[in-house]
Amino acid sequence: MGEVTNVTEYQAIAKEKLPKMVYDYYASGAEDQWTLEENRNAFARILFRPRILIDVSKIDMTTTILGFKISMPIMIAPTAMQKMAHPEGEYATARAASAANTIMTLSSWATSSVEEVASTGPGIRFFQLYVYKDRNVVAQLVRRAERAGFKAIALTVDTPRLGRREADIKNRFTLPPFLTLKNFEGLDLGKMDEAADSGLSSYVAGQIDRTLSWKDVKWLQTITSMPILVKGVITAEDTRLAIQAGAAGVIVSNHGARQLDYVPATIMALEEVVKAAQGRVPVFLDGGVRRGTDVFKALALGASGIFIGRPVVFSLAAEGEAGVKKVLQMLRDEFELTMALSGCTSLNQITRDHIVTEWDAPRARPAPRL
Ligand code: FNR
Repeated sequence: MGEVTNVTEYQAIAKEKLPKMVYDYYASGAEDQWTLEENRNAFARILFRPRILIDVSKIDMTTTILGFKISMPIMIAPTAMQKMAHPEGEYATARAASAANTIMTLSSWATSSVEEVASTGPGIRFFQLYVYKDRNVVAQLVRRAERAGFKAIALTVDTPRLGRREADIKNRFTLPPFLTLKNFEGLDLGKMDEAADSGLSSYVAGQIDRTLSWKDVKWLQTITSMPILVKGVITAEDTRLAIQAGAAGVIVSNHGARQLDYVPATIMALEEVVKAAQGRVPVFLDGGVRRGTDVFKALALGASGIFIGRPVVFSLAAEGEAGVKKVLQMLRDEFELTMALSGCTSLNQITRDHIVTEWDAPRARPAPRL
C-alpha cells in the first residue's frame, strides 16, 4: 500500500499485522454489529449547508475543555490494553496526544499504569473508571490517578456486564500472558484468566459492580475533587439525571457499539442529549468518528468535542507513536478544511444551520405547478 491518506486505512494495515485474537478484540462490536455499522452510516446521512465568500484565511480550532485549553476539539477515548497493539502501547498514545496538544483518556484496563503514563511528561489526561465491586480498589485507583496529575474522571456507565462480542467468544479472548492490567497489578486483579468463552467477559462478571447506580456518581464526588464525565449517556432522561447527580459533562457514547446492539448511532442520539443538557454541562461524543467532516457534524449538532477510539489502536499497531500522531494530524487537517469550505473560522461559528439532517422539517419549497 502507498502512503496512508486517511484514518480508515489504518484498519486494514492493523489487520495484516496483528494476531487474529487481538485484531478481532479491537475491531468487533456486539452481536449483529448493527450499531457498529450504523455509527459510520449515520454520519453519511448528514449533509452540509456551507456558506460562501467568507474570509477563511485564518482558522482557529482551539477550544477549552473543563477549563483546559487544547489545540482542537479532537481527543482520545479510552481503549483498553494498548500494548497488544504495540510494545509502547499507552506510552506512545500519551506522547502523541501531548505533542498534538490534546487530551488523552487512559483506560482503567490499560497495560500501563497511571504513574507510568504520567512519567511520559506533561499533558492533559483524563482517567476512565470502571467501578469494581471492591470499593477500596476504586478509591485507591482514583487517588492514584489524581496524584499522577489526571484532570478528570470519565465514568463508564454502559458496562454493568460486558456486551456479547462473538469474535472474542470464538477466539477465547484473553490478555496475553506477558501483559497485565497495570493499574491493578498490585491489587492482584491484573491478570485475566482464560475462560470457556471470552476471558474479558468473565473478568467483568467477577469484578465489575453490577449494582452501580446514580448514588455512586455522588459517592465518587466524595472521594475525589476531579470533575466527572458520565460516559455512555444516549437519552435525554439520563442527561438530566447525570446533571442532577453532579456530572461536569456527559459523553454520548455507545462504547464503540460493543455493548448493547441496536442502540442508535451516537451522532443520531447527540441532539436529544444536547437539548436536555440546555447548556448546563458540555456534551461530548464518541463513536465512528473517522473524518474531519464527522467532527464538524458533531459540533454543528452541539457537541463540545469528540473522542476517537479504534483509530488509535489501529494506527498504534501500524506505526506506533508516529501512527497515532498521523491520525491526529489527518483529522485536524480535514477538520480545518471542512471549516474553511463551510465558511467557519472558529468553533463558535459552527452552527446547526451548517448541516441538514433527515429529521429536519422539509424547507419551504415553491408549490409545484399543476
Ligand atoms: C473501547 N472502549 C472503552 N471504553 C471505556 O470506557 N473503557 C475501556 O477500557 C474501553 N476499551 C475499549 C477498547 C477497544 C478496543 C475499543 C474499540 C473501545 C470504548 C471507547 O472508549 C469509545 O467509546 C469507542 O471506541 C468510540 O468508538 P470508535 O471511535 O472506536 O468508533
